[in-house]
Amino acid sequence: MLDELRRLGRVRCSIVSRVQEALLSWFREHGRDLPWRRTRDPYAILVSEVMLQQTQVPRVAPRYLAWLELWPTARALAVAPRDEVIREWQGLGYNRRAVNLHRAAQVIAVSGWPADLTELPGVGRYTADAVDRFAFDEPVLPVDTNVRRVLERTGGAFGPESAAALMDLGATICLARIPRCGVCPLAASCPSRDRRFEPLRKQGRFEGSFRQRRAETLRLVAAGHTTGLDADADAVASLERDGLVEVHAGLAQLPH
Ligand code: ADE
Repeated sequence: MLDELRRLGRVRCSIVSRVQEALLSWFREHGRDLPWRRTRDPYAILVSEVMLQQTQVPRVAPRYLAWLELWPTARALAVAPRDEVIREWQGLGYNRRAVNLHRAAQVIAVSGWPADLTELPGVGRYTADAVDRFAFDEPVLPVDTNVRRVLERTGGAFGPESAAALMDLGATICLARIPRCGVCPLAASCPSRDRRFEPLRKQGRFEGSFRQRRAETLRLVAAGHTTGLDADADAVASLERDGLVEVHAGLAQLPH
C-alpha cells in the first residue's frame, strides 16, 4: 500500500515536472526580454514591481529606465525632493505609489532592507514576494492576477523557478477572456483547454471619475498653476491626505 502511494506520488511528481519543463522550455524561447530581468538589484526590482502594480509593461519599461538614470540607488531616491519624485511619476497613474516608493527608499537608506518586505510603505504580499524572488532568490512564487489565472486553469503545481514564465504565459497566451490555447505549451494536459471566459471585473471608467479629477488636479499643481482649494476641494483634500500636495494659505503645492 505504502509502495503504491509512493509510486503514485512519483508519477504525479513527474507529471508536474513535465508540465513545468514544458513551460520553462517555452519561456526560454518566447519569454519577454524586460529591462528589470537583467538585474538582481533589489532597489531596481522594487522600482519595477511598484510601477507594474497598476501599469502595463509597455508603459512601464521606458519610465523604469528613466527613473534609474535619475535615481540609481535607494540612497539617491531617499534624498530627492518629494516634488521631483511626484513629477517624475506623472503619467504612470495611481500617484500615491510615488510617495510610498520615496518613503520606502528612505526606510531602506536609513535601516537597510527589512527581512519582511511588507514592512515597507506600499509593499503588499505580491510585491514583497516578487522582490524576494527576483532580487533575493528566495523560493517563493509571487502570485499576481496573471499567475493566479494560469494556476487556476491548469491546476498545475509550479515552483518558484517558474515565476517569470507564468507571468509571461498569463500575459501573452493564457489571456483572461480568450486564451490562445492553440499555441500554449501547456494545452495538452490543460483541463481548461479551449474554454472561453467572461471578464471577471472591468476596471471602473477613468473618464469622469474621482480618480481622474485627482489626476488632473495633481497635474495642475505639478505644472505650477496656483490651485486654490476652490478648484476641486475634494480632490485637493484627498491628495493632501496621501502626501501628494501640501496646502499653505489656501494654495496647494507639491511637498518638498
Ligand atoms: N517580471 C518580473 N516581475 C514582473 C511583473 N510584475 N510583470 C511582468 N513581468 C515581470
